[in-house]
Amino acid sequence: MVQGPRRVRLTESGLPIEPVYGPDALAGWDPVERLGEPGAYPFTRGIHPTMYTGRPWTMRQYAGFGTAAESNARYRRLIAHGTTGLSVAFDLPTQMGYDSDAPLAGGEVGRVGVAVDSLDDMRELFDGIPLDRVSTSMTINAPAAVLLLLYQLVAEERGIPAERLSGTVQNDVLKEYIARGTYIYPPEPSLRLTADIFRYCRTEIPRWNTISVSGYHMAEAGASPVQEIAFTLADAIAYVRAAVAGGMDVDEFAPRLSFFFVARTTLLEEVAKFRAARRIWARVMRDEFGARRPRSLMLRFHTQTAGVQLTAQQPEANLVRVAVQALAAVLGGTQSLHTNSFDEAIALPTDRAARLALRTQQILAHETDVTATVDPLAGSYAVETMTDQVEAAATVLMTRVEELGGAVGAIERGFQKAEIERAAYAVARETERGDRVVVGVNRFVLDEEEPYEPLRLDPAVETRQKARLARLRAERDGGAVADALAGLREAARGTGNVLYPMKAALAARATVGEVCDALREVWGTYEPREQF
Ligand code: 3HC
Repeated sequence: MVQGPRRVRLTESGLPIEPVYGPDALAGWDPVERLGEPGAYPFTRGIHPTMYTGRPWTMRQYAGFGTAAESNARYRRLIAHGTTGLSVAFDLPTQMGYDSDAPLAGGEVGRVGVAVDSLDDMRELFDGIPLDRVSTSMTINAPAAVLLLLYQLVAEERGIPAERLSGTVQNDVLKEYIARGTYIYPPEPSLRLTADIFRYCRTEIPRWNTISVSGYHMAEAGASPVQEIAFTLADAIAYVRAAVAGGMDVDEFAPRLSFFFVARTTLLEEVAKFRAARRIWARVMRDEFGARRPRSLMLRFHTQTAGVQLTAQQPEANLVRVAVQALAAVLGGTQSLHTNSFDEAIALPTDRAARLALRTQQILAHETDVTATVDPLAGSYAVETMTDQVEAAATVLMTRVEELGGAVGAIERGFQKAEIERAAYAVARETERGDRVVVGVNRFVLDEEEPYEPLRLDPAVETRQKARLARLRAERDGGAVADALAGLREAARGTGNVLYPMKAALAARATVGEVCDALREVWGTYEPREQF
């Protein structure tokens, strides 16, 4: 049979994948310079010398819905099933800094996450959970300081000193301007608040990871792997610059920066993406910011498997997708991992689906040999070539962002958003044409989908949450709350760290919405301008 011209496949980032790689792919390639040792600069092979042979990644399942009591029950079940870290999903009103009884909150209370309005809700959310032994991630951005302080106040009530607390707040508003949209304040006060959290945690909660600079949501909006790491690292550079401009020494806060990426089904490119990201970040922190502590140079990250690749059709097929995506994250050296439930394209996961998602991680950690040796794909002709290619392409895109004034300048021109929309459109067209196979959706489809019974949310959750708020407002000392909020507004008008007056207001049982409104009054809110 006459061989047609060899059709070179492209990666998700549009880079060529050769049908065969051989020694010539790595001719002149210096493993010592390009890779380094595991746990040493440039950390290509992982941030620890022993990686999973020393400690497996944290199995950290993102969860939360309804009231604090309902989410607390789910966290206890996840801990009972073996999860090794908590990850709180907040409902949209909380993420937007509105109380459950705010007009804009209608219909969203307790829907995509748990409703937290006050210290009372936070206390209930962590009832019976040992805050000095469990690390807790909170996916909260504009109101990150508020939820962090509520967490600290609950620990204080139990006599747990803040230095014993470990966890993360996402606290990454720049990516909210680019994708997802849960921002409140304009970029300048948002960056001030982020830097205030860095300073506050440096003094008060030293083991807390102060930010989780996220590429996940940009990837879910359509960003390619190269765009995902380039735009995320550009955001991180903007945060580091803001903290250094605010007078902090880079080695004071850099060890507590963290990141959050997606893991797609295209495993080889994803492993290359994680390895390239570590190498770029190590170089940026050493060469641009002069960081000297090894921990300042390490890119520590959490991964979530790609929600956008789940299908509502034949949902059980998602178990296989999630397993491949989780394997990509593990082979890529993630520190923490969330595996999606197979039914999440349909509704919030059932307990059974959530347990299966966790079991996927446990099988990878305890039944396979991928934790027996560090960075097992190192030296692979294909993976090392792809790692170099992703690194080169991401570096070019980061330079482009820099030319536009860095992450904030590019955001204000709508650059990242436009680039991601272009990438998303291309994927949609390929899928519609059938050039991109989505099993169960445009190939291998069923004539008749089998019925699947999803989790049903209690419709009364909004009513119950509003009643809780009314009781809280009736019982608390309104004068003390008003004085504390006035103090917060005063601090926001000045240059001091707003977290101290904010903590006093929350301790007086001011609500999440009242605290965020106090800052809205002083700083205003962000209004996006479309340009590209
Ligand atoms: N050798 C030596 N030490 C090791 C080790 C090894 N092999 N492995 C781990 N360790 C140490 C670490 O250095 C760390 O020590 P420290 O306490 O002194 O820092 C300790 O063991 C715990 O390890 P990690 O810090 O790596 O693990 P964590 O799980 O605690 O932290 C993280 C991981 C990425 C740094 C942290 O920021 C984190 O947990 N992030 C999670 C973020 C998250 O869950 N986000 C969810 C987002 S969901 C969302 O956005 C919305 C939805 O729409 C997607």
